[in-house]
Amino acid sequence: MIDPYGRKITYLRVSITDRCNFRCFYCMSEQMEFLPKGEILSLEEIDRICSAFVAKGVRKLRLTGGEPLVRRDAIELFRSLGRHLGAGTLDELTLTTNGSLLARHADSLAACGVRRINVSLDTLDPGKFAAITSRGQIQPVLEGIAAAKAAGLKVKINTVALKGINEDEILTLVRWCADRGFDLTFIETMPLGEIEARRVDNYLPLSEVRARIASVFPLEGVAETTGGPARYVRVAETGQRIGFITPMTHNFCETCNRVRLTCTGTLYMCLGQDDAVDLRAPVRTSPDNGPLIAAIDAAIARKPKGHEFIIDPALGRPAVFRHMSVTGG
Ligand code: 5AD
Ligand code: SF4
Repeated sequence: MIDPYGRKITYLRVSITDRCNFRCFYCMSEQMEFLPKGEILSLEEIDRICSAFVAKGVRKLRLTGGEPLVRRDAIELFRSLGRHLGAGTLDELTLTTNGSLLARHADSLAACGVRRINVSLDTLDPGKFAAITSRGQIQPVLEGIAAAKAAGLKVKINTVALKGINEDEILTLVRWCADRGFDLTFIETMPLGEIEARRVDNYLPLSEVRARIASVFPLEGVAETTGGPARYVRVAETGQRIGFITPMTHNFCETCNRVRLTCTGTLYMCLGQDDAVDLRAPVRTSPDNGPLIAAIDAAIARKPKGHEFIIDPALGRPAVFRHMSVTGG
């Protein structure tokens, strides 16, 4: 699959549920209305769509949410998608999780062929953790991360940089991850979905985060990119890789290799644009894959050149109205 700008699409991210057991203030509002069951793709439908993408050249699948592991039969889906790893048609099957249910599932995930996982962790302080997530407890998350490591999964921690909240923990998090052999990626807040907090109040540019790390640990540039928005540096002393996702301040769209599927079967060609193609109707109305493949081709042919995020303090409203939990991180 090659889009109109010559970019090869090899990566599909799939939100398998819009639900989450946390309510991180930058992500969700307290009064989230979740989608009715009938709107949500069944596991078989998700498998069918993912498998069609794999047949068309996708080499990497990431399941996200919401929190993917709150979906009861999530592991069944991993198990079934794992067959593409065995067949050599897929290079990587992975997930982004808040870690809260990981202790229970880490071994099964490893058995399904998952090798690496991303775990969201914004703070190591139990009180701050509870405040950021509204209802989350840090202890099960730390246990989940430990279980993942014990199961042989490579762990990457995602930390949303939040002014006045976790900026004093940046170095602590760098050391904590280094001690455990975890990669670490900092993320800037993105204007996705309406929430109560004014996101500009907590906006912390990653240039500041990077400068703070560099003042203590000499950093080296890293040439490699994953085709995604992250840029990486290496801590000279330990070799630890630190990533920075700066959607607001950087242009990474030229190398974008991904598209995103929501749990209702809507395919977004760009996280920062509203254009989308429905894949649920072709899947539900036809037992053969012809209409699905045609819809995928039409979508890729419309992938836009780039995103249009801005946090406009004057507007005080998001640039894109769907929450991250709908499109997947
Ligand atoms: N801005 C930045 N990061 C966000 N995440 C969720 N919502 C937002 C947002 N509006 C983060 C989560 C997770 C990752 C997938 O995205 O904390 O680490
Ligand atoms: Fe849940 Fe992740 Fe959103 Fe937090 S950021 S509410 S853990 S989906």
